Amino acid sequence: MELKRNVSLKSYNTFGIDAAAEYFTEINDIKKLEEITALPQQKHILGGGSNILLTKGVKGLVIHNKLKGITVEKEDNNHVWIRVQAGEIWHDFVLHVINKGWGGIENLSLIPGTVGASPIQNIGAYGVEARETIESVTFWYWNEKTFLTYNNRECEFGYRDSIFKQLLRDKIFLTSVVFKLDKNPVYNTSYGAIEEELDNMGVQELSVKAIAYAVIHIRTSKLPDPNVTGNAGSFFKNPVIPIQHFNLLQSRYPRIPYYKVNEALIKVPAGWLIEQCGWKGYKSGEAGVHAKQALVLVNYGHAKGSEIWKLSDEILASVKKKFGIELEREVQMW
Ligand code: FAD
Ligand code: EPU
Repeated sequence: MELKRNVSLKSYNTFGIDAAAEYFTEINDIKKLEEITALPQQKHILGGGSNILLTKGVKGLVIHNKLKGITVEKEDNNHVWIRVQAGEIWHDFVLHVINKGWGGIENLSLIPGTVGASPIQNIGAYGVEARETIESVTFWYWNEKTFLTYNNRECEFGYRDSIFKQLLRDKIFLTSVVFKLDKNPVYNTSYGAIEEELDNMGVQELSVKAIAYAVIHIRTSKLPDPNVTGNAGSFFKNPVIPIQHFNLLQSRYPRIPYYKVNEALIKVPAGWLIEQCGWKGYKSGEAGVHAKQALVLVNYGHAKGSEIWKLSDEILASVKKKFGIELEREVQMW
């Protein structure tokens, strides 16, 4: 097992922040887990680095996940169960699946990162969440030196949330995920922009590929490409507030967009709240707020993680002051 020292993580995180790992290694074989477990350093798992903000150098050992492999575990007339190793690139897996014509994750096209991170915050986009297709998750439990498998219910999935982000945070290395996909896809075009895009594309007959291409097109027109401008997607989660609070806001801001969660709760787009506070397109030094999507904080070049963090603090304070809503960060601080 080769341990490198003092490795820059600049090319390993989509914010493009230049911070160093005290120790760094790659893993491409789960047999190495025993050996890594015995190492004394604190362990940090790194996938595609697309949901982290490096605010300082990372003490301990950064383990870059390169576990690869996609295998069909079983199938029947309606479904196929696929086990995917955690280091597979999420969008490569989506492409593999849509080429087979299997349904379930086409709306999640082009989300950066690894398959292993997909259950951690239950990735979601365009009306679909990963939890809808995740059958089980297998992980290595550092303290117990053993593999465990959780079924869907045990993962305690929520909006951008799971047990892996809560109780099991920093305690496990997620090694593979089994997805249950549909051989007879049921298409989800509930997100308005998809219907519109399919119309623009002149699509006559729906297919998983057509939906994937529509999603890819919408995403590339809205979200900054991390290869050009550093970012980690939505920096904050969309807040869910009591209906009484929402009614008050709606009487003051009649155009406020919202999604009903249930009779008592309403989800409000954080991007709208942040834009109303005047942040959209804001730039301070090399840190800023994307001009087309106020929920996305960006690094225009050489911003430090601490500058982006400070900007996020200022945004939190202004949204709290104007709307009485406490935003929660989606991005994990390292
Ligand atoms: P990392 O950033 O490497 O890791 C994230 C966290 O998970 C870290 O704390 C890490 O330690 C932990 N972790 C990662 N892998 C493992 C593992 N195998 N075992 C244990 N812990 C692990 N997210 C959405 O939900 N929907 C979107 O539409 C979306 N759009 C995005 C668009 C852009 C342009 C960008 C840059 C990001 C977007 N994201 C989106 C966020 C991000 O892509 C997802 O959160 C993704 O799942 C992160 O994967 P990763 O491999 O890069 O994780
Ligand atoms: N909006 C504004 N101003 C902005 C941005 C958005 O007014 O600057 C309004 C839009 O007009 C729209 C609403 O907010 O009415 C929602 O905007 P959008 O469709 O762009 O989605 P979002 O709520 O900002 C969420 C996810 C994204 C996901 C998209 C598509 C969260 C935190 N973010 O963004 O996920 O791709 O929906 O489903 O839930 C991510 O998690 O990193 C991510 C990119």
